[in-house]
Amino acid sequence: MEILNRYRKIVDNFIIELENNERIFPKSFKDAMFYTPKSGGKRIRAALVMMASDMFGGKEKDATYIASAVELIHAYSLIHDDLPAMDNDDFRRGKPSNHKVFGEAFAILAGDALNTYAFDIILRSNLENYKKVEILRILSVSAGIGGMVVGQAADILSSDGKLNDISKKRLVNFIHKHKTAKLIQSSLLCGAICGNPTKEEIEKIKRYGLYTGVAFQIIDDCLDIVGDESKMGKKKVDEINNTLTYPKVYGLEKSFEFANRLKEMAIKEIKDIDNSGNLIEIAKLIVERDR
Ligand code: IPE
Ligand code: IPE
Ligand code: MG
Ligand code: MG
Ligand code: MG
Repeated sequence: MEILNRYRKIVDNFIIELENNERIFPKSFKDAMFYTPKSGGKRIRAALVMMASDMFGGKEKDATYIASAVELIHAYSLIHDDLPAMDNDDFRRGKPSNHKVFGEAFAILAGDALNTYAFDIILRSNLENYKKVEILRILSVSAGIGGMVVGQAADILSSDGKLNDISKKRLVNFIHKHKTAKLIQSSLLCGAICGNPTKEEIEKIKRYGLYTGVAFQIIDDCLDIVGDESKMGKKKVDEINNTLTYPKVYGLEKSFEFANRLKEMAIKEIKDIDNSGNLIEIAKLIVERDR
């Protein structure tokens, strides 16, 4: 998808620029902090910010700040997700994970730093203050106790054999919605806020974000079974970790079916307002990707 490449380059360059302009002591900590954000990644969340902004007339420069901030939060979540105390994953984005290079203490601190740094970057944008506040509010909830962190907490508990009073179907849905979909949904919402969407359009974008977000994690789970590790740039660890996944609860075939159905539902929400067709294309890519 050509536009995805373009947005990826913009955000990659912006993150390098941030690193170059930042004076951080000690230098070895700065290296740990920027190692994962700079190590590539598909930049899907960044692209969703940029696309939603463009859709509602936002400025590309404003959206670049928000897209980069979302990727910094995402990188923080990956660094912590890979730690021995969590998924114990030695590879990420085709390279040794952050803690394998810099040690666990620096990996924890790099994640901590990226999390708060992301909010600083949002504040540095030229958006009107009320928009910045709204974006900060959305991301601070969806990356934290309204999303990613509690999703990860439930993920860890379930892999430890806890939370058995809830049905596996409800639990896996809770986990995916929170650990992954909320940040994806927020990427779209925050991008939209860079422009001027109507209340109705916001609601459509919200539903599109939830559906594609859950589909994104379902496909990630499926790839952990059928994917190619060298393409994905990470190891298959779900089985080893006893992670609760869609394929574990529903089987592989049904999981792909669910993801496809979510893609259709997502496209239906936005097809009337997606003049460029970008959100339709990226919903397909999320479900049809091989990495
Ligand atoms: C990995 O996200 C973590 C999940 C929520 C599944 P991505 O698959 O978007 O990882 P990168 O950013 O491309 O490395
Ligand atoms: C992690 O889900 C989601 C996050 C919030 C980081 P996974 O544990 O499945 O992500 P990968 O497979 O390690 O990228
Ligand atoms: Mg995990
Ligand atoms: Mg993991
Ligand atoms: Mg995974």
